Amino acid sequence: MTSAKKILCIGAGYVGGPTMAMIASKCPRYRVTVVDIDPERIAAWNSDELPIYEPGLDQLVAAARGRNLFFSTDIEAGIRENDIIFVSVNTPTKAFGLGAGMAADLQYWEKTARQILAFSESSKIVIEKSTLPVKTALAMERILNSRTNGVFFDVLSNPEFLAEGTAIHDLEQPDRILIGSRETERGLKARETLAEIYANWVPREKIITSNIWSSELSKLVANAFLAQRISSINAVSALCEKAEADVTEVARAVGMDSRIGAKFLNASIGFGGSCFKKDILNLVYLCRNYGLEEVADYWESVVKINDYQQERFIRNMLGAMFNTLAGKRICLWGFAFKANTSDTRESPAIFVTRRLLVERAEVVVSDPKALKNARIDLAGAAGRVSYVEDPVRAAEGCHAIALLTEWDLYRHLDLRKIFKTMEKPAFIFDGRNLLDHRRCFDIGFNVYPLGKPPLTHF
Ligand code: UDX
Repeated sequence: MTSAKKILCIGAGYVGGPTMAMIASKCPRYRVTVVDIDPERIAAWNSDELPIYEPGLDQLVAAARGRNLFFSTDIEAGIRENDIIFVSVNTPTKAFGLGAGMAADLQYWEKTARQILAFSESSKIVIEKSTLPVKTALAMERILNSRTNGVFFDVLSNPEFLAEGTAIHDLEQPDRILIGSRETERGLKARETLAEIYANWVPREKIITSNIWSSELSKLVANAFLAQRISSINAVSALCEKAEADVTEVARAVGMDSRIGAKFLNASIGFGGSCFKKDILNLVYLCRNYGLEEVADYWESVVKINDYQQERFIRNMLGAMFNTLAGKRICLWGFAFKANTSDTRESPAIFVTRRLLVERAEVVVSDPKALKNARIDLAGAAGRVSYVEDPVRAAEGCHAIALLTEWDLYRHLDLRKIFKTMEKPAFIFDGRNLLDHRRCFDIGFNVYPLGKPPLTHF
């Protein structure tokens, strides 16, 4: 155990909360404080109902909270009292002005940097945890070190690679910890201080270092590569449907090549989540900014294929259901952008629902964890939407089920019983290839998997 440290995290979201809970749990001698401007969010972190659902998080927080993990709205005191500050505020895609729809909106980041500057009475290490465009650290350094009162700030980049739904496992056993710093004496010292924190539970060989710009860029590139694999297999799924091939068989054959690997080759309705689209667009914007048009176009096509895959799903539904969805009841199984999370940010389910409403269908949304967020996402949607948590009840009286999130519970439902309660002919559109399609067909459903020939009774 290294010497005691006082750590602050500004931003109590999907990254800040779980990451600090892990540090507090692994380093009982450290004092870890998480602050946020949103009092409701902080109140939730201090309650029995945490603001995010993440397997294993409740136990981790319950064990450390009040001992060496604290949640507070007092940002000023937090900054004054801590020497190591993680910044994990959100950096959404800019919605206005230059770079709208592409570039990252850095206003929260800059405000936070100015707060750190205003309230600091001693030198500090400031760590970028949010995903940021390359060279953000430079802007941070310039803002933070704009005063000449003997207080100095070392800015480090320490991107977080955790995935939602497996955050606790990813934090406990990360593939790597990346720390980018200046190569100056001060920069290297700050880097070692941060490495010491992780070394409490992560093997030293997995803690890698780089220059600060490589570190910032690595996060964008890692997400772009992951998303690119999904768009590649989704593009192939469209081809499989035409060529009577089976995308699962193709993915298995391709993925067994050890140079390619088997992960992230599941064809789907499309990727969602707060990171992939935002980070790729960010990368695209960066490339265009540097005049690298071909590189920008290349990465942008990953997002275009993702949009295409979602629209293709709707068109397949329309085609299969006799070219009209008007007045038909469609049940969505799953609204979260993936299983084991309540997060619905950029979930393909939002797009699918809106498109179904445009076609004048009635939509019944079902999800074990994400209905609260679904209601917020669809608040302004024109048309008939209802919310039913129980997937069996949700499907009652529906003409079709569209499976959008790969929740395990959908594997174990009594499909025979469900079939009986539905309008006929009954359809299943499996946007995750999760169900046993042959069985669904035998029960009587017309089944439309992704990237495989449909099984129909017509
Ligand atoms: C991602 C990165 O994995 C993580 O390293 C980074 O820190 C944040 O972004 P996350 O968004 O939580 O994490 O989810 P991830 O598991 O990567 O899935 C992203 C999307 O791709 C989901 O919508 C998922 O359903 C979809 N996906 C994933 C597929 O459609 N097919 C696959 O084979 C894998």
